[in-house]
Amino acid sequence: MDYLTVALAKGRLAEMAMDIFAEIGMDCLEMKEKTRKLIFTDEKNKMKFILVKASDVPTYVEYGAADIGIVGKDTLLEDSRNLYEMVDLGFGKCKMAVCGPAELKDKLGGITDLRVASKYPNIALRYFQDEKGQTIEIIKLNGSVELAPLVGLSDVIVDIVETGKTLKENGLDVLEDVCELSARFVVNKVSMKMETERIMDIVTKFQNIIRENEE
Ligand code: PRP
Repeated sequence: MDYLTVALAKGRLAEMAMDIFAEIGMDCLEMKEKTRKLIFTDEKNKMKFILVKASDVPTYVEYGAADIGIVGKDTLLEDSRNLYEMVDLGFGKCKMAVCGPAELKDKLGGITDLRVASKYPNIALRYFQDEKGQTIEIIKLNGSVELAPLVGLSDVIVDIVETGKTLKENGLDVLEDVCELSARFVVNKVSMKMETERIMDIVTKFQNIIRENEE
């Protein structure tokens, strides 16, 4: 039997996904140890788990370097890839929102060449230009996006809001909601054909655990 490889978005999503894999008997105790290793093997179930940067998960899965991926919907929306999105895992829930100073609430439509800073330029452009028909100037950032309106780099940001704590502590508000987000289970298209049974077995077990957790 060949190994099935799972690409996990490093961080909290990987931890939550590994808890579910453990519940379905696919365990890799070694991952719980403090280590800088990036690849872990479960010999019993012929599974490999690799830890990758969230934005790279769809790349590993599309090219078949991983058969399965666990990644946030934000990453999938930003960088649309040729893969199957199988399950909404229901964890890692948060939203994508336009945020900025409270005085801009309900005023964005009237600003010409609104400057929008974001780690998600494609999501931001789709929202403003396609959905709202508003031309904007995108400023691509890689993190600490909340800083941009505070130092005059942009008028607003498009970013993830989870608890709202980062916004609050930096004096910013949610101005408009863009979409809801959560972790997703994605599968390489060829792997799905070649290993349908093993992959669908994992998908079903994941769905059952998610259902149990919701009840
Ligand atoms: C994310 C996001 C927000 C923050 C939202 O940042 O970009 O900054 O979390 O969470 P909250 O609503 O619970 O405060 P992340 O931690 O990924 O860091 P970075 O974007 O600055 O790299």
